[in-house]
Amino acid sequence: MKAVIIEKFGDLEGSIIKTGLDIPKPGRNEVLIKVRAAGVNRPDILQRQGLYKVPNDASPIMGLEVSGEIVEIGKDVTKKTLGESVCALVPGGGYAEYVVTNEAHCLPVPKGLSIEESAGLCECLFTVWINMMKLGQLKEKEIFLVHGGSSGIGMFAIQLAKQLGATVLTTVKNKEKSDFCYSLGADEVVKYSEEDFHNIFKREMEGGAIDLILDMIGGDYFQKNIDLLGVEGRLVTIAFLRGVSVKLDLGQLIMKRIHLTGSTLRPRSAEFKSKIAGELREFVWPLLDSEKVKIHVDSVFPLEKFKDAHIRMENGNHLGKIILSLD
Ligand SMILES: NC(=O)c1ccc[n+]([C@@H]2O[C@H](COP(=O)([O-])OP(=O)(O)OC[C@H]3O[C@@H](n4cnc5c(N)ncnc54)[C@H](OP(=O)(O)O)[C@@H]3O)[C@@H](O)[C@H]2O)c1
Repeated sequence: MKAVIIEKFGDLEGSIIKTGLDIPKPGRNEVLIKVRAAGVNRPDILQRQGLYKVPNDASPIMGLEVSGEIVEIGKDVTKKTLGESVCALVPGGGYAEYVVTNEAHCLPVPKGLSIEESAGLCECLFTVWINMMKLGQLKEKEIFLVHGGSSGIGMFAIQLAKQLGATVLTTVKNKEKSDFCYSLGADEVVKYSEEDFHNIFKREMEGGAIDLILDMIGGDYFQKNIDLLGVEGRLVTIAFLRGVSVKLDLGQLIMKRIHLTGSTLRPRSAEFKSKIAGELREFVWPLLDSEKVKIHVDSVFPLEKFKDAHIRMENGNHLGKIILSLD
């Protein structure tokens, strides 16, 4: 089969398309998917750069989500059938013509979604569900801040939080991204290149009353986040684009009884991911079927042009998801 192979960690020159590779074999509970489209995620860039350690049992090929058709099933597979169209969370290996994944990590292609659109659902929706709903415990009428509102993660976090009945605040770089977030339903968007989100939200909240912050930025955002949280506020960290080391004011922690947590999806167990897939199927897939939650695809590149897709993500001007097509 054909796939994108990282020959040397670092810049794009070190990654190439290779042909003649062995098609992976599905394990007992796994299915083999003939990939029609694969989502591009920021962790792919980090993996290519050698900054993201792949779990020992995962494919070293990039790609965490795909859509396509099941063409082979493992001997203990019970719920998935040959020929079924699915979108799936995969443990790596998505930038390839074929990939294997646990049958329980496959979800149906939502009604009305194209194969490219459905390829961009899983990595971000699994991550948002785990961190915003399970760890973050977001509730109706709460105030929720997600940084990076125009990212794949931000796009789904804004829409799901609105569906829940929360007030949604977000931060972005520029007006185009701000307009995009308002179109998704955000209540207030701060353009961080023009205004300090901390000053603005602090003034509006009269001293800090955000209930939950989903943060991918870290660095200097950390102390601002802590300061903006209300009593019993929660900060859930999923990445640290501005820096991994931060300073914590323990006074605020104890006075406001703040909850600090975070997580990363890829190394979680197959059982855990299966449980999340079940919850997404029950609570989020109906919202996709009824178009109450939508995916915005920024751009689609053929697999052969994966370098252009990575450049687009690294330049940071995309809105929503970037997709690779194998059709
Ligand atoms: N923990 C997990 O399980 C998990 C899973 C998936 C993804 N993630 C992380 O979640 C983040 C989003 O992933 P994605 O695939 O949706 O990527 P993406 O679309 O590229 O989003 C990255 C976002 O970060 C913002 N950003 C980048 N540098 C920034 C900076 N210096 N200051 C402020 N904002 C900055 C960008 O918005 P602006 O242009 O507006 O700055 C952009 O919206 C990534 O950091 C990724 O590693 C974590």
